[in-house]
Amino acid sequence: MSLRGCGSADAMRQKPASPQHIQMGWVMPERILVTGGAGFIGSNIVQRLLSRGSAVVILDDLSSGCAQNIDKDAEFILGDVRDAETVSKAAENCSVILHLAASVGNKRSIDNPASDAASNLIGTINVLEAARKEQIHRVVLSSSAGIFGELKTLPISEDHPQDPDSPYGVSKLAAEKMCLAYNKLYDMRNVCLRYFNVYGPHQRYDAYGNVIPIFATRIFQRDPITIYGDGEQTRDFVNVRDVAAANLSAAFTQGAQGVFNLGSGTRVTINDLARLMTGVSGRDVPIEYSAPRKGDVRDSLADISKAGRILDFVPRTGLEEGLAEYWGWFVHDRTNPPCRI
Ligand SMILES: NC(=O)c1ccc[n+]([C@@H]2O[C@H](COP(=O)([O-])OP(=O)(O)OC[C@H]3O[C@@H](n4cnc5c(N)ncnc54)[C@H](O)[C@@H]3O)[C@@H](O)[C@H]2O)c1
Repeated sequence: MSLRGCGSADAMRQKPASPQHIQMGWVMPERILVTGGAGFIGSNIVQRLLSRGSAVVILDDLSSGCAQNIDKDAEFILGDVRDAETVSKAAENCSVILHLAASVGNKRSIDNPASDAASNLIGTINVLEAARKEQIHRVVLSSSAGIFGELKTLPISEDHPQDPDSPYGVSKLAAEKMCLAYNKLYDMRNVCLRYFNVYGPHQRYDAYGNVIPIFATRIFQRDPITIYGDGEQTRDFVNVRDVAAANLSAAFTQGAQGVFNLGSGTRVTINDLARLMTGVSGRDVPIEYSAPRKGDVRDSLADISKAGRILDFVPRTGLEEGLAEYWGWFVHDRTNPPCRI
């Protein structure tokens, strides 16, 4: 990792490959900016980009990301997407921006709605403006199934009614609309990927955590798992490896633009998830039931046919296999020095 402050301009800049460079036999790797690249999903994308030979710049303020996630082969800029100048500097000489930096989650947004909007909407405008000025033709926005609000039909296709019921859903929907408006205004082909429940290595437990890290933490500590409601509610869990592959397709598929749902296209009950997790861990912990949580949807399932058709998206990691891999990573992460944020 090369580390530099957001204000310094001393770093050697690599230019993306141009036809002249290729003719001269001098091919520089394309340079990709990943905002939020120190986070759970972003760091998995960075690894994939580096392994295909891209040069990667990470812009992250480490507010929820983790220094240990930062790949040593990437250039790291400690900075905030709410600051337009920082984003512009980070985007210099890049050919694509994968925009993941965000204040993540419904609960966090209900606690801090203004900060959610500043990171998720103003941050996205700063990214789009940096792209426009730098003549970058594609931003891939990490959006969320949270834009749909109360679910009316299953599976959920891209044109399902969008009526978010949290500031997070509203800010993600507004960020999507901004990306699409830039497609109409400028020579841009922005793509918005609406993730359902993503899980996998680098996903850590936090106060606003998702169910899989919470269950893993309880199982690791040999504490009972708490399930809200009867546990027969369903969710569509998609492995981060598949989400990372979809980001690369979205970045490099010529002509792709618009919104895409990204899930596994399958769903599992929370009761079955708990059974699968105790199974892969080999630890038997009791399951306790508690009152359903207000605002939790009953069922969720993505229609991923559009992503399949246009981005060649095929979820390849089965849930049991993905959970076994996650448990291995989780135990290693817990038994090594903890992440310092
Ligand atoms: N994890 C999921 O299931 C899920 C579902 C739907 C959408 N998403 C979206 O995917 C993206 C990545 O989420 P994640 O789960 O990896 O979360 P994460 O918290 O691990 O990653 C977000 C990253 O953005 C950084 N960040 C936050 N605010 C910033 C700011 N103002 N400036 C610079 N960096 C900032 C954080 O430090 C962190 O590294 C987010 O946009 C999120 O809304 C995630």
